[in-house]
Amino acid sequence: MARRIVRTAVKLLIATIVFSIALLFLDRNYRVLPPSLHAYMPQHHHGHVVTDITVLQCSSVNPFSSCVLDPDVWQRIDKDLYLGKAWVSTAYLYVRRKKEEDLADGDRVVMDLSVGRLDPSANENANTDPDEKWESRPCGLWIKRSTSKFASDSDNAITAIDVLFGDDSVEAREGWSIVGTRLLLESSSGIPGSYLTVRRGVPNAVPKPVPRIKDNGKFKIIHISDLHLSTGVGACRDAIPDSYQGRKCEADPRTLDFITRVIDEEKPDLLTAIFKYAQIAIKRKIPYVSIFGNHDDEQTLSRSAQMSIIESLPYSLSAAGPAEIDGVGNYYIEILARGHSDHSALTLYMLDTHAYSSNEKKYPGYDWIKPNQVDWFKRTATSLKPAHKEYTHIHMDLAFIHIPLPEYIGVRNYWKGAWREYVTAPQYNSGFRDALIEQGIVMVSCGHDHVNDYCMLSSEGEDDAKKPALWMCYAGGSGFGGYAGYGGFNRRLRVFEVDANLSRITTWKRVEFGEPEELAKRVDEQVIVDGGRAVGPTMEEEAAEKEGPPL
Ligand SMILES: *[C@@H]1O[C@H](CO)[C@@H](O)[C@H](O)[C@H]1NC(C)=O
Repeated sequence: MARRIVRTAVKLLIATIVFSIALLFLDRNYRVLPPSLHAYMPQHHHGHVVTDITVLQCSSVNPFSSCVLDPDVWQRIDKDLYLGKAWVSTAYLYVRRKKEEDLADGDRVVMDLSVGRLDPSANENANTDPDEKWESRPCGLWIKRSTSKFASDSDNAITAIDVLFGDDSVEAREGWSIVGTRLLLESSSGIPGSYLTVRRGVPNAVPKPVPRIKDNGKFKIIHISDLHLSTGVGACRDAIPDSYQGRKCEADPRTLDFITRVIDEEKPDLLTAIFKYAQIAIKRKIPYVSIFGNHDDEQTLSRSAQMSIIESLPYSLSAAGPAEIDGVGNYYIEILARGHSDHSALTLYMLDTHAYSSNEKKYPGYDWIKPNQVDWFKRTATSLKPAHKEYTHIHMDLAFIHIPLPEYIGVRNYWKGAWREYVTAPQYNSGFRDALIEQGIVMVSCGHDHVNDYCMLSSEGEDDAKKPALWMCYAGGSGFGGYAGYGGFNRRLRVFEVDANLSRITTWKRVEFGEPEELAKRVDEQVIVDGGRAVGPTMEEEAAEKEGPPL
């Protein structure tokens, strides 16, 4: 009997090990595990040290140039250093790692890294550690390795390496820094420079901020959309004026100046963000969430790769969301009530609206929110309701997406703000607007159409029984790298101010250019929610003349 139990236990153990290995293998290649698990997986190399680094350049016209290093020994960082823009060349950074406990005598640990033409040891004084020497690698890369067994305990040992592109690259991650000059690649003219960034020592865990209604009952959210930040400074499109501070307009610096100014003036409690821009939020200790736009995976990094970086940034509240539903970044965050309460006062839903149609023949144009996302949203909102009822005031829900919903085309509805261009909503309606209303969400905000900046009221019921149900807003385009035009458009962003005492939401926009009083102005300020419910326009608002729509 005892033997049978032991035998069964052993079999079970073997089966479990085989299954785990299979799962890890599958996950390494196809990412089958939920993204949140990846932080704990071996890719992140806890307890691993870097023992060597090199760059491999390959040419597709030279049949003798081999493009892979032994995958058992070397790990490739999956970003082409030419960004896929060189005709016949590719180049990748390769890293060799070892488990700390497997280090043998004579193994060397990478303690420092530099990029440049000159041997960095020329600049060092004589009394540096004799165990540590600079060695040259291709493309101007230099590594300094130590033979000391305990070197890896040091806070200086390099524990992670990554590549950033563009001469204005910024490193936002805690504990990381960019090293040296750009990599010296052959024939790379016209391609943004690639920079190495490293993390030293054991990473500090970055605590997630807990957003909360302020003591005065207020909470302010800035929705920044269509930043169109590029790799490099970028070129301005349709800019007003077309020069900036007496010089040629460069898109990214001007965009970042604009949002920095408004953030400093409005002092929001939450932002939407990505990378270069995350710095601005981190420096000011403002939590931020990200949603993907349709352009966000047209470059070298996939959405899930970007999301795993964004998730790990300080003050970031973004999450990849459940792996089994479509898209990356379907998640929600809770804004807690004022004081020390554990109750949620406000819930924000973020959904991935993808990019181009998945059925171009039948529904050309943009993709739609998938039925499994709508189901996830309904399930989640329903399951949170009992907890939300515990809040002493009226709990409210908001949603943020990138591509507008088909109902934004509602010409019969009331709207405030500018409707300057055709609404590029998906042609297929997957019913997300109805789901939002069913779940009592009071406002949804999108981006995508840069020069539309209205908030439109969607109602339920007919004639006399007609009741305001959902505000559908646009953030307006903020980035100088994206189109604007249409007879002149000042870049802008949208602010939402929540007053939890009154369960009221007020919204307005801020613009980039104009006279000082225009710069300071709350453009098209309006109350969209009061007492926890969507409210219709005032009589003055309804009577005001509007232009559009440009159909
Ligand atoms: C909201 O309510 C709290 C508690 O009653 C109070 O301290 C705060 O001043 C109120 N805020 C506003 C804007 O009325």
